[in-house]
Amino acid sequence: MGKFTVTPWKVEGEIDYNRLIKEFGTEPISEGLLQRIRKHTGELHHFLRRKIFFSHRDMNWIMDEYEKGNKFYLYTGRGPSGNTHIGHMVPWIFTKWLQEKFDVELWFQMTDDEKFLFNDNLSLEDTNRLAYENALDVIALGFKQGKTFIFSDLDYSKTLYRQALKVAKKLTVSTAKAVFGFNDSDNVGELFFTSVQSVPAFLPSAIKGKNMPCIIPHAIDQDAHFRVSRDILPKIGHYKPASIHCSFLPPLSGTGGKMSASVAESAIYTTDPPEIVEKKIRKYAFSGGKDTVAEHRLKGGNPEIDVSYQWLRFFEESDEKLKRIRDDYKSGALLTGELKQVLIEKINAFLKHHQERREKAKKVLDKFVLRD
Ligand code: TYM
Repeated sequence: MGKFTVTPWKVEGEIDYNRLIKEFGTEPISEGLLQRIRKHTGELHHFLRRKIFFSHRDMNWIMDEYEKGNKFYLYTGRGPSGNTHIGHMVPWIFTKWLQEKFDVELWFQMTDDEKFLFNDNLSLEDTNRLAYENALDVIALGFKQGKTFIFSDLDYSKTLYRQALKVAKKLTVSTAKAVFGFNDSDNVGELFFTSVQSVPAFLPSAIKGKNMPCIIPHAIDQDAHFRVSRDILPKIGHYKPASIHCSFLPPLSGTGGKMSASVAESAIYTTDPPEIVEKKIRKYAFSGGKDTVAEHRLKGGNPEIDVSYQWLRFFEESDEKLKRIRDDYKSGALLTGELKQVLIEKINAFLKHHQERREKAKKVLDKFVLRD
């Protein structure tokens, strides 16, 4: 069995998602749950159809409550340590779909405090500035104004701190160490931080004085935080948050783990111009093709390890087109260079639209942001 690591701060190695379900104690997304969701949404997002979202906690309870008329809200976030890359957008694209289909609120946390505490090279000014840069990417995805609340932990601290204290009081050092693997040389801010990430999982309930179910869409790396939240929130009078987990958009290099902002050539950023996207994909996207054209035509390529194909699973919405690409690649009819071209065009079309909307988002940023 291969070795891999998945924590909120480190994702490495060839990830076995089924093993994570067992180790973290989450549930796989069953056909039954998909049917329940489809009953309300009319269709299934391709992330659900393709099991890119593969695991959850308490989504059946969310559906029970919803069917009784008890509407949920959504909560997700970003740790602003640099520019947004297209991997970060995966949970947000899905969150946007949920907001649209269920017409619910989204609370979006920018953990500029976290990125200061956990990163030696970033100042509070840096992470706070990046929070608002990253917020443009969130707004550009088309979340509803008036139903979407984005906040920096630093600039909404008066509200957050009062609630974080309630969580912190119930969180022991030994739990924080056991869940996150902290040791005595880590700073005390790091131990406290998970209390802050728990707050939006009940904040609207605390503000409105009425408990509301909460769904947190995120990649599976963040699960440790919400294991803590689920343990503590009932002790302070709130529901456990539900969550729905996606797998990682892999790095271009195909070396396992997740696309990471700290390895520039492995990531594509939302602000990359088309020629940079093309260059990165041509140069770095790991290929599942054969060494020579003749051999590739004869034996075909392997889509399972080909990063361009793996990315198209995330970004090509049409099942029919995706299947054709897969079949042609496997048969050898489609060469690696041609497959890369398909991906380049797909990503550049997506980013062109995104970058236009990102520019426009600058004008409406204040309409989305909460401060106190
Ligand atoms: P951060 O900034 O590391 O990541 C933001 C979101 O993107 C997900 N993610 C990915 N998803 C798919 N493919 C990838 N390669 C990939 N890399 C990252 C993360 O799981 C996350 O959902 N502490 C958090 C910020 C946060 C948060 C939250 C996240 C605060 N509250 C609630 C999710 C839900 C962080 O640093 O995320």
